[in-house]
Amino acid sequence: MAGRSHLRSVKRIAILASGSGSNAQRLIEHFAGSAGAQVVLVGCDQPAAGVLQRAWDLGVPSYLFNAADLRNGTVQRELQALRIDLVVLAGFLRLIPADLVNAFPERIVNIHPALLPKFGGKGMYGHNVHHAVIAAGEQESGITIHYVNERYDEGEHLFQATCPVLPGDTPDTLAARIHALEHAHYPAVVEKLVRALPPTP
Ligand code: GAR
Repeated sequence: MAGRSHLRSVKRIAILASGSGSNAQRLIEHFAGSAGAQVVLVGCDQPAAGVLQRAWDLGVPSYLFNAADLRNGTVQRELQALRIDLVVLAGFLRLIPADLVNAFPERIVNIHPALLPKFGGKGMYGHNVHHAVIAAGEQESGITIHYVNERYDEGEHLFQATCPVLPGDTPDTLAARIHALEHAHYPAVVEKLVRALPPTP
């Protein structure tokens, strides 16, 4: 049916997030004006996360789940039932189980607030990362967008951008610079990926 194939040419993005959701908001806004893809779901594992209010305000359905749902395949089934083409992690802090990685091969991406492979791994998220970068005396930090595998922050890199670490930086000031970099680049990198994807059967 012509109408149905037209509908399926709009790629379906799900965002998973645990926190404030500023990246999620940028992504939703970016794709709201796009004919080729749409954010159709915001999945979240933290009932008090700011991202839930942002999704509500922007009219995107949200899905609250817990750690067991992620481990036992419930989240995977939800994403498959919604025929999600690309899963975009935006400040999502849990490990993605191998079954979910395998169900979405090269269809799960993450953004990390540092220049991987440095400053990655378990426990390295948000301000912990910026604190470690400053403590190590780095003069440069940045962002890494990468495919997700079953280990924290180890999937193939897709994109990096850098910014200076300035004398006197605190985790807060560095986080603000990194967030600006994320907001400037994540939607465009996701758009390029999603355009190149073959349609999900
Ligand atoms: C972002 O800086 C993102 O890179 C980071 O969490 C922040 C979420 O901000 N992710 C990680 O640290 C993952 N290891 P947001 O909720 O405002 O988008």
